[in-house]
Amino acid sequence: MASVAPNPAASPEEELLTKTPALTVQEAATSAELPPHRSHDPQFNMKRTDPFQFGSRYLQESDDVFEFNAWDHVETDDTYKEYAEQQYAMQRESPVSDFDKRRFNSDPAKWWNLFYKNNTANFFKNRKWLQQEFPILDKVTAEDAGPVTLLEVGAGAGNTAFPILASNKNPKLKVHACDFSKKAVEVMRSHEEYNTDFMQADVWDAASNDLPPGLEEGSVDVVLMIFIFSALSPIQWEQAVRNIYRVLKPGGEVCFRDYGRGDLAQVRFKGGRYLAENFYIRGDGTRVYFFEKNELAQIWAGASTAPEDEVEAEDTTKEVTESEAKQPLFDVEELGVDRRMLVNRARRLKMYRCWIQGRFRKK
Ligand SMILES: C[S@@+](CC[C@H](N)C(=O)[O-])C[C@H]1O[C@@H](n2cnc3c(N)ncnc32)[C@H](O)[C@@H]1O
Repeated sequence: MASVAPNPAASPEEELLTKTPALTVQEAATSAELPPHRSHDPQFNMKRTDPFQFGSRYLQESDDVFEFNAWDHVETDDTYKEYAEQQYAMQRESPVSDFDKRRFNSDPAKWWNLFYKNNTANFFKNRKWLQQEFPILDKVTAEDAGPVTLLEVGAGAGNTAFPILASNKNPKLKVHACDFSKKAVEVMRSHEEYNTDFMQADVWDAASNDLPPGLEEGSVDVVLMIFIFSALSPIQWEQAVRNIYRVLKPGGEVCFRDYGRGDLAQVRFKGGRYLAENFYIRGDGTRVYFFEKNELAQIWAGASTAPEDEVEAEDTTKEVTESEAKQPLFDVEELGVDRRMLVNRARRLKMYRCWIQGRFRKK
């Protein structure tokens, strides 16, 4: 992972605060690991002299936690972990009813359509940090990169695709931005920077049996998946991974970022939101899963199947034979947990964010 990206909060609720017990903060990085500009030498100390910059504030024992509003790579401590476990236990005690499970699982696109109807394209923050996190994006947008096909899965309002196009210098780049929400696709198509010379926005369900419109097997160089995999039900993972595998060229790369287990968005879910382990329904009817790093490695290497719990079956999912499922699909080139502690200084609250970011390469 290059460094830490700005807070890619994916819903307004994630901007809210969570009340956690008063916590002791563990030191995240030893000074030996820190480059000089992150040291406490007042001459170089970025914490005190530089404007706010993500990826540069490493909490140390002598720091006043409430001096700044974000710290990078902070491990949660035992108190928070205990609090999180209590929350999970409470959530499990009060799961979503079977009736509502069917309501939310039978047509998930409907809830995302409503979401995009109720929110503008500016709702998600523009993901300008992507190029820094995924250097392949710099390569494919370079002037002399030649023909490149980039597929964004679950592109939403285009907050990833449009910033990429804005900095693109490659006349032969084509971005296919797909989402299963018709409303999201409408939002992208009506964007003032939507230019069909470089971009094609289409409706496509990543967990269906089809490939995205206009794309053949083995035709894509790079796939981007930013906070989309968490929107799938665990029983859809395998099919989605298989579709990405099919559409990618051999050696093609997947750039991935999503929610990690223990993220504050998970910990603060109240009762009545639990669909299955680590899988929840938000207040707006959209679903969200929180991943463990090893779980993702298994899924993308092709070794995993959905956890065996009460996840509802959905009719969009294709049967995958056992031999297919065990085939290794991707090399996990990079997979890291990105943690950040956010601090509300006025209310002296600490909040922990956790994201997982990785790159997978088609064998
Ligand atoms: C949290 S949003 C992220 C949007 C965008 N990637 C971004 O980062 O701004 C998740 C997106 O995934 C889409 N999505 C959910 N399930 C999908 C599926 N099965 N196939 C395609 N898109 C899906 C939703 O409609 C939504 O736009």
